Formats: sequence, structure tokens, C-alpha cells
Amino acid sequence: MKSNRLTVNLAGLKLANPTMLASGILGYSAETLEGIVAGGAGAVITKSVGLKPRAGYANPTVVQVDCGLINAMGLPNPGIDEFVKEIRQAKKVLNVPLVVSVYGFSEEEYAAVSKKAADTGADALELNVSCPHVKETGSEIGQKPETLSKVIKKVKAAVDKPVFVKLSPNVTSIADIAEAAAKAGADALTAINTVKAMAIDPETSMPILGNKLGGLSGSAIKPIAVRCVYDIYERVKVPIIGCGGIANWRDAVEFFLAGASAVQIGTAIATKGSSVFRAVSRGIDAYLKRKGFKNVGEIVGLSHRC
Ligand code: SIN
Repeated sequence: MKSNRLTVNLAGLKLANPTMLASGILGYSAETLEGIVAGGAGAVITKSVGLKPRAGYANPTVVQVDCGLINAMGLPNPGIDEFVKEIRQAKKVLNVPLVVSVYGFSEEEYAAVSKKAADTGADALELNVSCPHVKETGSEIGQKPETLSKVIKKVKAAVDKPVFVKLSPNVTSIADIAEAAAKAGADALTAINTVKAMAIDPETSMPILGNKLGGLSGSAIKPIAVRCVYDIYERVKVPIIGCGGIANWRDAVEFFLAGASAVQIGTAIATKGSSVFRAVSRGIDAYLKRKGFKNVGEIVGLSHRC
């Protein structure tokens, strides 16, 4: 939908509305991304891609629990050299910004993958420094401020596109990590990735996921994510992208009031389909109109007044 109330300039990216596809279960094929844009997303983020192809973990990789999903896919991906074909195709068919999610096992890998993605046409990068269960990448990098800073600086030196950094809630102080990321040059911070979790089957007495441990997403983590956005907003001036359990316009507005400039939606697509983006945008627009705001930017961080 088109409405001046919904437009956002996110670290230089122009979004027609503040809803974005979260990096996650979807997002390797240009065709899937096209379907998400048809559902109303203002931008899309791919699933994370690394330097080399990775098979990921054995099944089951996703389990449904109360109020959410636990997933541990193990960062399966075709590797950046194969994935550039999808980036090229996506750029031909999408009329919204394309953000490529990147992971690596070293600062050099993050930079090399980011550069290939940016050179192929990615409008921005989102660094996955928060996957909660793959060893030597993800949160093993994002939990260590010094290592995180080195990764961000290396990527920033390699690309001239905005660099978003997706943070983990599985830390003592997300504000400390956000500050390190901002000082290293992050253009925006995504909060949050999944919460470390597991589920056990009483019949087999065994963990359900192939990897045993996974990451919880969906409405169960929304209050955690809102708190993280709130904490980060108090500490840094970098734009924040809220992520975690957003399924309707009220959820999205809560994130804006906490300090987010845009929101990502992932797990809700499983139950609501891709039209959830349009429904959320319509609801935000109606809320802004009813409250007399001219643009969504006017409500970012409003809950911090007292
Ligand atoms: C996965 O591929 O297992 C999930 C990645 C993530 O949580 O960042």
C-alpha cells in the first residue's frame, strides 16, 4: 500500500513501508522473495549465505512449540558464488530493497561474502552475528565485542552499502554489544535473532531437533525483543530494526514506540501467509492517522519520554 505516513529512510534505504522480511526460513530464491513483496513487504532480507556451500543439520530442523517455533537448520546455503545468481535474478524482479544476510567463520569471510553480494547488487548487508547454535560463527562472534568490532570494520572497509548487524538476545547486556557495533560503524542494528531454546519429546525421552539446541522465534519472544530494542535505543543513536514475534500492527507499533525505525516479520508468515506484511502496514497507517501523526518516524522511541 502507498501512504506517506509509512515511508522510511533506513540508513539510506528508501522503504515504502516499514515492514521487512526477516532473514530466516525463507529467502534463497528470487521467486520466494517476489511472493513476499507481492504480500506487501517494504524490503526483503535473504537467508544467511556464507563463503562455501553448507548442508546444514539433519532433520528435524523446526519444531512448533507454544507461541512459536524452535529452529536449528544449521545455516544451510549454496555458498555465495552460487547465490549471486539468485541476487541477480531478485534484482531484476523486485521493486523493494534487497538485503543479503551474511555469515562467516572469520572477519575475512564476512568481508569476502559481503563484497560479492554488494558487487552483485545487494542494496544492503545484514551481518548474522547471532545464530545461536552454529559453532565459530553467529553468536560466538556477536557475543564478543572485540571480535564483533573487527568483523564490522572489515566489512565496512570492503563495501560501500549500508551494513546492518543482527544482534543476539543471548547475552548479558545487548546494549553493550550494540554500543560496540555502533562504534565499529554499523549503519543499523537488528534486534533480535532467536532465543536459545530446546524441546524434548516425552515419548522418546530425546531432544526433538536434530541439533538438539535451536532458536525460539514467534510471539513467545516478543516481550524480550521489545525490551532489547528499548535498551539499545537508550544507549545508541544508530537506527534499530525490531524483530521478534511481530504478527500484527499492534506488535509493530510497540516496537516503534520502544525505538525501532522499521520491523522484520518472519515466523508469522507460517500462520498468516505473506499478506501479513500488507495487513500490518494497513494497521500501522490507520493507527498513525487516528493518532494524528504524519509519518511513522514521529512515533519512534516515544515510550522513552518518561
Ligand atoms: C539456522 O540456519 O539454523 C538459523 C540461522 C539463525 O538463527 O541465524
